[in-house]
Amino acid sequence: MRVLFVTSEAHPLVKTGGLADVSGALPVALTRLGVDARILMPAYAGLLDRVETTGPAISLGEVLPNVWARLIPATEPATGQSLLLIDCPPLFERPGGPYLNEYGHDWPDNFLRFGLLGRVGAMVAAQGVVPEWVPDVVHASDWQAGLTAAYLWLWGVPRPRTVFTVHNLHYQGIFGREILPMVGLPDMMFGVEGLEFYGHVSYLKAGLYYSHFLTTVSPTYAREIQTQMGGEGLHGLLSSRGARLQGILNGVDQQEWNPTTDPYIAAPFDAENLDGKAVCKAALQRELGLAERPDAPLFGVVSRFVEQKGIDLALSVISTILDSGGQIVILGSGDPGLEWHVQGAAGARPDAVAARIGYDEGLSHRIQAGSDALLVPSRFEPCGLTQMYAMRYGTLPVVRRTGGLADTVIDVAEAEMGTGIVFDHADPGEVIHAVRRTVELYRDRETWAAVVRHAMTVDHGWDRVASDYLGLYSEVLHAD
Ligand code: ADP
Ligand code: GLC
Repeated sequence: MRVLFVTSEAHPLVKTGGLADVSGALPVALTRLGVDARILMPAYAGLLDRVETTGPAISLGEVLPNVWARLIPATEPATGQSLLLIDCPPLFERPGGPYLNEYGHDWPDNFLRFGLLGRVGAMVAAQGVVPEWVPDVVHASDWQAGLTAAYLWLWGVPRPRTVFTVHNLHYQGIFGREILPMVGLPDMMFGVEGLEFYGHVSYLKAGLYYSHFLTTVSPTYAREIQTQMGGEGLHGLLSSRGARLQGILNGVDQQEWNPTTDPYIAAPFDAENLDGKAVCKAALQRELGLAERPDAPLFGVVSRFVEQKGIDLALSVISTILDSGGQIVILGSGDPGLEWHVQGAAGARPDAVAARIGYDEGLSHRIQAGSDALLVPSRFEPCGLTQMYAMRYGTLPVVRRTGGLADTVIDVAEAEMGTGIVFDHADPGEVIHAVRRTVELYRDRETWAAVVRHAMTVDHGWDRVASDYLGLYSEVLHAD
């Protein structure tokens, strides 16, 4: 089976969040199952220097009005994963991130940049632009790839089948109606039965409306987005597609996130021998300038600083953590106000609170390895990966019962074999209570160690998940 993945980021080439982890790992896991998977994504600045080109560039001509592009076949050196990179320097070769400029603002031409991604996805799928390679299934993710299915519908192409995965319903790719001619779409698609959303064009809605099958990244989030509370205005459409909407829980890359082989951490460890974890904790405390206290419960946070992630709730429990003799490290970036508050908290108590503003892959591994607990107080969380990394590293997740957090963490009080602490509401009182429960459990060294060992043995690998996707692709191919 041939599957084309259309995505705007894929680890280890470009990453702003979990979408990259999933887009990087799922095709590799599917390849192990015999699928011929290729990732289509933009050749952002410098990316072509980090891949191995495998064939001549394919000229695509003028893909959108005044936008010329080429397709570069390549492989990702670490995994050998096949890639198709869209070479269009005027749109993709710039400083800053994939979606935002250096000042943190959306690129004003994102409609065109990701319109191009969708259009090229449709061309690869339907116009045979890659010699001898036509996919059976096109699997697109999030609003950035939302137009792929819209072009295929417009061109009246019944095959390949399209699967669209929602990693986050909150980001919708909303633009004015006037962009339609610039991305080569007719005005007749601008309607409730189409890609219109409250008077605007929604790339996300295009993906939801025109794809054959929808998935999201956890069963609980699949239910939540069909309700008014969690549906971000799209619950009507989503619940009408309910029979063709499935929640498939993400996996994590258990090679990359493996405390026995992780090159970023101070000492290896596993569930049988946790001595190395104590070494990692001391090394992390030293690295961050925290007091080197083995008995202080150390809480970690690794997150984008956005409303979704409840960083304000994490800030509200710092005094509780300090009162109970604990420490906290927060790594992340985003909202400047939150960055300021996080830095302020660290400035007031540098022996017990550490803040690192920015994106740091190595430090994220060291926090997972060296912390005792990972705090994830999300307001909503489609899946969440950091809580699963935490469990692999014997760091107990303290999470809100929402989306994928609810599907991956079992509260120690609710089952004999719990894996963390779960609270219900995004409310400071509940987070404080959860932190107190965590510290109490931490002080009971024997029980804590048993829970840690259990959490470390839970399998979150991609193999099972990839076979679920493979099953879905077969179903989609055979559906009418
Ligand atoms: P989301 O995709 O909503 O940000 P996930 O939990 O699915 O949430 O994935 C976040 C990914 O990004 C994880 O791999 C996490 O380790 C990583 N990450 C988030 N912030 C940082 C950071 N500041 N530095 C390094 N890695 C980060
Ligand atoms: C999104 C979600 C996150 C999920 C990730 C990968 O970024 O916010 O919960 O884990 O996608 O699916």
